[in-house]
Amino acid sequence: MHTTEELQQILDTAIQNLKFPDHPKQLYDPITYIINLGGKRVRPLLVLMGTELFGENANESIHAAMAIEIFHNFTLVHDDIMDNAPLRRGKATVHEKWSTNIAILSGDVMMVEANKSLAKVNPAFLGPVLNTFNVTAQGVCEGQQLDMEFEGRDDVSIEEYINMIRLKTAVLLGGALKLGAIIAGASEKDADLVYQFGENIGIAFQLQDDILDVYADPEKFGKQVGGDIIANKKTFLLLKAFELADGETRASLDTWTGYKEFNAQEKVDTVRQVYDTLDIQDIAKKSMNNYLNRALAVFAQINVSDERKANLLMLTDQLMAREY
Ligand code: IPE
Ligand code: IPE
Ligand code: MG
Ligand code: MG
Ligand code: MG
Repeated sequence: MHTTEELQQILDTAIQNLKFPDHPKQLYDPITYIINLGGKRVRPLLVLMGTELFGENANESIHAAMAIEIFHNFTLVHDDIMDNAPLRRGKATVHEKWSTNIAILSGDVMMVEANKSLAKVNPAFLGPVLNTFNVTAQGVCEGQQLDMEFEGRDDVSIEEYINMIRLKTAVLLGGALKLGAIIAGASEKDADLVYQFGENIGIAFQLQDDILDVYADPEKFGKQVGGDIIANKKTFLLLKAFELADGETRASLDTWTGYKEFNAQEKVDTVRQVYDTLDIQDIAKKSMNNYLNRALAVFAQINVSDERKANLLMLTDQLMAREY
């Protein structure tokens, strides 16, 4: 079994060894660019940890881990177009640095590269691996579509929101763990349990992302703070605020979310002020904790030693306290 630092080392080496074609440059340069900007590499780490949780060596699932990280980066490139985001990991987004068309096509070819990595998985597991990957990837697209549709709606329920983030974010964390488990030869029951653990962690992860989008330190965050407010994203924070606001705060929310033209900084500051008045951050953190606890309850049902579980539990802790 590896320590978390060793697993990160295995990932770093594998990422450095990824090779993409040279030409056309404008198709492939953005891939190297976005991947080398780093990021937390949570999902490939989950693949490796999923494998070691069930007693197999992490090196067995390194290609699946690369497939998941390349896929994740592809979703970010397209997400940044859809969200009109200027910054990613502290640098210009691909569509800003090159162009939207380049970001679309580079993203597309990243999906192909993800598949090429996946094809290197031990053929004994390829059926279930492909199936899990495809179900996951399709879920992400469905979640992203709902996310965009919700921008233009004012009647989104918390339940619909949770389902949307389950799809756009949580299925990928669950899927990553499940891929790792499958490659370790885990039983279907165990693979399903670890998936559910990951899905609940993923919901908490996206709740945290929504909180950070409003409250993060811009220096640490690496993304535009306030982007969700600017775009009227139906985040947990905005939905809760609409639920709780009345009188002046309600009027302020209605006005600012209704403006077609506005000063972005002014909108962000005003809406954040409403959130503060209503203690929204605290309510969001409680909801996060609720999903964390659900995750831990599922994790407890997995019948492997505490020693094998330690890495994943520590990573979970770190994710819940992250600042970017
Ligand atoms: C960003 O994911 C997209 C979300 C699902 C919130 P991460 O926060 O894992 O981004 P990186 O890979 O570490 O940059
Ligand atoms: C992330 O949602 C979902 C995917 C990228 C699939 P966000 O739009 O909140 O992610 P960030 O905040 O841009 O990383
Ligand atoms: Mg985004
Ligand atoms: Mg988005
Ligand atoms: Mg976000």
